[in-house]
This record gives sequence, structure tokens and C-alpha cells, in this order.
Amino acid sequence: MDFQDTAIRIPHSRPTLGPEERRAVDEVLRSGQVAMGPEVAAFEREMARAVGVEHAVATGSGTAALAFALAGLSAGPGTEVIVPAYVCPAVANAVLWAGATPVPADVDPETGCMDMEDAMARKTDKTRAVVAVHLFGRPVDPAAYKALSVPVVEDCAQAVGAVVNNRPVGSLSHAAVFSFYATKMLCTGEGGMVLTPDETVARKARAMRESDVPPSPEGRYNAKMTDVAAAMGRAQLRKLPGFVEARRRLAHDFGRAFSGLDAAILPDAPGHVFYRFVLKVPGDADEAVARIQARGASAELPVPEPLHMALGLPDYPGARSCRKHFVSIPIYPSLSRRETKAVVKAVKEALG
Ligand SMILES: Cc1ncc(COP(=O)(O)O)c(C=O)c1O
Repeated sequence: MDFQDTAIRIPHSRPTLGPEERRAVDEVLRSGQVAMGPEVAAFEREMARAVGVEHAVATGSGTAALAFALAGLSAGPGTEVIVPAYVCPAVANAVLWAGATPVPADVDPETGCMDMEDAMARKTDKTRAVVAVHLFGRPVDPAAYKALSVPVVEDCAQAVGAVVNNRPVGSLSHAAVFSFYATKMLCTGEGGMVLTPDETVARKARAMRESDVPPSPEGRYNAKMTDVAAAMGRAQLRKLPGFVEARRRLAHDFGRAFSGLDAAILPDAPGHVFYRFVLKVPGDADEAVARIQARGASAELPVPEPLHMALGLPDYPGARSCRKHFVSIPIYPSLSRRETKAVVKAVKEALG
């Protein structure tokens, strides 16, 4: 089938679900215990074991997980949290949910990761934490963020399964947060988790995800995960090594196919899980996206509105450059060989 001649569009993201998830959810439905219960507890134990961290607290979303982790580290009213400017709005929303002020730091225009010099310059005596984002599944070393001398929260929303210095991401900081949104590395529909070696952080997150308990000034929210979602998550977690392998294989194939193009492939790093495959185009990313879309594959801007724009702050040259030149193309384990070929063809024609 010629994708150019049809309305068929290869989606930019898609969950990879199969009979294992259906069976697991079906069992939960048959049990009648569908709210938070033993499946959530088991998913927490399994994630804690996979990442190698003592405490795990499942939540209704990654945003809630980040808000609760920050609150657990006392990043609340009157404090500031340094975040990368080139990231989705959920990160700033989580900081605001915790009651703190998000302070974006500029990013490296080649990777989209935080520019530590700029972050240092933005540190004040109100800075209470820094968020280290493993952007697009490419791990960063949280040790670099420790130079700020405040607690580091790893945002692993895009990077479950990634490894840095032979250790899983999420095991290298004061607290780590994960997202299991429909199109993330692991899918529970909506969902998130806090992983931490710090018992106080875990206790606070457990308290904050409840609401049918006596009120408390730190906030009580109904932000729990359901057993239905956790059953999916457990089935997905068992498939994680295969998912990572499939993404790496696709990234390798794309890398070879696009080597002659003007567009640059974002720098690789050991332990990368390729949640996104991102190209840096010499021209305008919006135009490149439109040209790829016109050829049947759904390309997207990975971050359509960096935080400095969303928050109405002055120019951030690194984040502006990423916004202008980064283009993300479909990469996920359920991308078929036929679809992969069609994506390669669309990108080569559009950018060649
Ligand atoms: C880097 C990052 N942090 C946090 C989140 C928030 O996760 P969720 O969508 O589960 O609330 C996302 C997902 O949108 C994300 O990509």
C-alpha cells in the first residue's frame, strides 16, 4: 500500500498491548477488587526490585508522582525548583502543585538536556530541589546535578529501563518519578510512581495520594492507581527488556537510513532506551513536520512549547533552538516492518 495515496497515517505514538495485558486485566475484573489493592502493592514491589530502590509509591499519574516527591523533599510554598526549560508543561505543573515556583534553566541545543552552568546561575537561597529529566529516554548522570547542592529528583517519565553507569535510572538520586501514560515506555493508561530510598519521602507520597482521610496542610489528593491499571503495568514490566531491545533496533535502523541526510540524529548515550527518536533539522521543525505528515507518517515537535514560553519568561537561546529544530518521528515496539519502511521513506523524501 502506498501511504502517499491514502489517508492512512502512521501514528506518532502507540501503546504495545497484547493478550498478557488483557488476561491480567480480566483477572482483576473477575476478582471484583478493582480499586487500589494487591495488584498495586505487587506492582510497587516489582518496580522497586527492578530499579533497585527500597520504597515505591504508585500514583494516578507521573505529574502527581513528581508533585508528591517534591513535597516530600519540602519543596513547597516559598521555595524554588530548577527544571529544564525544554520539557513538557507537566513538569512545571507538578512543581506548582507542590506549592513551589518552577525556575527553568536553559538547555544544551544539541541534546535538550539542562545546561548546568545556566542552572548554577539560577540557584538562589530559595532553591530546594532540581529535576533531572532523562529526556527522550537518553539517560543523564544525576551526579552532575549534585553540584547544585540541593536534592535531585530524577524524572524517569520517558526512560524506564534506561541505565547510567551500569545502574538503572531512578536509583541514583533522592527520589525518582515515573509515568505510565498510554504511550510511555510502560503503559497503564494513566499512572505514575515515586521511587525513593528515603522513607520520609515515601511516607508523604503515600499520605498525599489519599483523600478519604483527615485533612492536612500538606494536601490530601485522591491520586491513587487502580488495580486494573497496576495489572496492566505488571504485564508490561515483564515485557520491558523486549520493548527496549525493539526500540534500540529501530533506532539503529533509522540511524543507518538517515545517515546521508542533512538532519542530525541527536547524540546517543550508553543505556539509551529511545522513547523518542529525534532529528535536528537545519531548517524549521514546523515545516519539516508538515512535509513528513504529508507523506503519511505522523512526525511531531517533541516539546511544542518550552517552559520559558509557557511561563512568559524572556528568551532561552538553547530551548528556543531545540523548539525550532527538533523533530520526533514514530518509534515504538508495535511499529511493524512495513510501517518502519514507510516512516523511513517519508522522512527521506521530506528531508532529503
Ligand atoms: C518528562 C515528563 N515528566 C512528567 C510527565 C508527566 O507524566 P503524566 O503524563 O503521567 O502525568 C511526562 C509526561 O507527560 C513527561 O514526559
